[in-house]
Amino acid sequence: MFYITIFGANYLYLIMSHTLTQPDSLFEQDNFSALEALDRAQFIAFAPYVWEASRLLVDKGILKLVDEAHQEGITIAEIAQATGLSNYGVRILMEAALGLALVYRKEDRYMLAKTGHMLLNNTMTRINFEFMRDVCSAGASALEASIEQSKPLGLKTLGDWDTIYQGLSKLPSPARESWFNFDHYYSDNTFDTALKIIFEKPVKKILDIGGNTGKWTLQCLQYNADVQVGILDLGIQLEVAARNIDAAGFSGRVQFHEHNMLNPELQLPEGYDTIWMSQFLDCFSDDEIVMILSKCHKASNEDTRIFINETFWDRQRFSTSAFALQMTSLYFTTMANGNSQMYDSKVFCKLINRAGFDIVAQHDMIGLSHTILELKKH
Ligand SMILES: C[S@@+](CC[C@H](N)C(=O)[O-])C[C@H]1O[C@@H](n2cnc3c(N)ncnc32)[C@H](O)[C@@H]1O
Repeated sequence: MFYITIFGANYLYLIMSHTLTQPDSLFEQDNFSALEALDRAQFIAFAPYVWEASRLLVDKGILKLVDEAHQEGITIAEIAQATGLSNYGVRILMEAALGLALVYRKEDRYMLAKTGHMLLNNTMTRINFEFMRDVCSAGASALEASIEQSKPLGLKTLGDWDTIYQGLSKLPSPARESWFNFDHYYSDNTFDTALKIIFEKPVKKILDIGGNTGKWTLQCLQYNADVQVGILDLGIQLEVAARNIDAAGFSGRVQFHEHNMLNPELQLPEGYDTIWMSQFLDCFSDDEIVMILSKCHKASNEDTRIFINETFWDRQRFSTSAFALQMTSLYFTTMANGNSQMYDSKVFCKLINRAGFDIVAQHDMIGLSHTILELKKH
C-alpha cells in the first residue's frame, strides 16, 4: 500500500489500495481496571432501569428544574410540587439520578452534575437520546428475533412496512422528527468539507443516490451556480425533496429519479460525471452493497468520480464514537431492515473491491465521525 500524508492533516490519500489506512487501533486491548470493569458491568446489568429512570428525569422536566436551580439546588419536595409527581416518585428517581451521576446533593438539595448537564444540554446527546426514545426503544426487545429472521421485527412499533425506508417520510410523530434530526445532524456536519472535496475538480452533473429530503443537493446548487443534480430515492422521499427544492427555487437544475436500488433490473440514469452516496450504503447488507456498487460501475466510465460518505466504527478517534455507531447498528437490525449496519471499514473495503472499484482517495475525520472515500473503476 502506498500513501502520502499532506501536512500531517486529516487527509490520507491512498493510491490503488485495497484497504483503508488505519488510525490508532481501537479495541485491540482490554483497557479497564478490574474496578472500572465491575462498574461498567453494573450499568449493563441494570440497563433497563438506567434508561427508564433517565428518560423520566428528562421527560418529566426534573433535570431541567435541577439545572435552573443552579448552585442553590432544589429539594425533592420542591420538585414534587413543580412536577405534580408524588414525593415518593421523585425520591426514587432522584436517588437513581445520584447513582447515575446525573445529579449530586448537599444535605437535602440537589444540583446538576456534569453527566446530567450533557444529557440535558449537549446537542449530539439530545439527538441520540431522542432517536433512541422515539424510534428505537419500543422495538429493542425484538433484537434476538430480528437477528434470527434477518427482518426488522421491531419496526411494527412504528408502522406496517417491510423496511423503515418505505415509511420514512410518513413515520408517526415524534419518531419522524427524531429520525430526521438524527440522520441530518451527522451528515450536515460533513457538508462544508465534502463540498470542497467534490468541487476541487470541475463537476457538471452529480447523482445524489439516497438523496432523501434534498439537503445535500441544495448545498451543491448553492455552492456552484452551474452544477445540475439528480436526486435518486424511493418515491415517498422524492415527494418531500421535490417540495424542498421547489421552495428554494432550484427546480430547473434538479432531476428526480424514482428508483429502488435493490431492483437489479433497473439501470442507473446516465450522463452524471459524479456519483455521491452519503449515509446510504450502510442501509444495505454486504451482498446488496456489492450489487448497488456494481450498478454504479456499469453507469460509470474511467473519468466518473464516485464518492461514499460513511461512518466506520473502526475509523473513529474516540471509543465513545465507535460505541455510538456500534449501538446504531442494532437500530438497523431491529428497526430499519434487519440486515445492515454501521460497518467496520475492513469489511466494507472488501465489498468495494468485489464490485470492481479501487479506493483512490480517503478523507478521514470529516464532520463528527465520517470518512469520505473516492472510488475509480479497476
Ligand atoms: C440514511 S438516509 C441518508 C440520507 C442522506 N443521503 C444523508 O446523508 O443524510 C438513506 C436514504 O436512502 C434511501 N433508500 C433506502 N433504501 C433505498 C432503496 N432501496 N432505493 C433507493 N433509495 C433508498 C432512503 O429513502 C433514504 O432517503
